[in-house]
Amino acid sequence: MVIKSVEFIKSSSTYKECPSDTIPEYAFIGRSNVGKSSLINMLAQRKKLAKTSSTPGKTQLINHFSVEDENYKWFLTDLPGYGYAKVSKSSRKEFHKLITNYILNRKQLVNLFILIDSRHDLMQIDKDFIEYVGENQVPFSIVFTKKDKVKSEKFKLIQKENEEKLLSVFSELPPIFVTSSEKKLGREELLNYIAEVNAIVQNQTNE
Ligand code: GTP
Ligand code: MG
Repeated sequence: MVIKSVEFIKSSSTYKECPSDTIPEYAFIGRSNVGKSSLINMLAQRKKLAKTSSTPGKTQLINHFSVEDENYKWFLTDLPGYGYAKVSKSSRKEFHKLITNYILNRKQLVNLFILIDSRHDLMQIDKDFIEYVGENQVPFSIVFTKKDKVKSEKFKLIQKENEEKLLSVFSELPPIFVTSSEKKLGREELLNYIAEVNAIVQNQTNE
């Protein structure tokens, strides 16, 4: 895929404010600081498109970016992180409501990329979230981030445990991607996947 243009559209504080366009939408979610915004920048090849920070809790709104490639127009959506311990209980609740309302109501959402830090096993909060997404039939994939921070041998072991955990919840594994925004790893695989889904969506619309 060749990305021809990327444009920031808007920040929304509820799903109702999200852009009305019905182009296919790909959203990125995961624990705070997992690397969602960095991954979006890596995919778009724009260092400062989505704001990143070493302090968790940077992204607090739903941010829409429109992308145009050689074939399709689609949205990349940056979501606030879940499970950030340092914010108050009430704002954690607000974030949770914002995220769940968005994923349950955003009809044009064709894939939710759930990001997991390559250095860690799936935490209970990730497992709970993945289960919730599966129960609600939201199409999703798993993306391991920050692969540059873990040695390959250790990563293999973590991966195996993670796959077992996923298989204790689902009968088959979802699509899994391994990425490093730092090393630009996994970009082509993710973009190819998005291109495939865009083609399927387009065919369904034409039927
Ligand atoms: P919130 O918006 O706070 O939920 O965080 P986020 O998930 O959007 O994370 P963000 O992209 O802001 O990255 C968090 C920190 O991790 C930043 O300091 C990034 O530089 C760093 N980071 C992100 N991706 C990578 C990666 O692939 N490798 C390494 N080494 N660092 C990364
Ligand atoms: Mg962010």
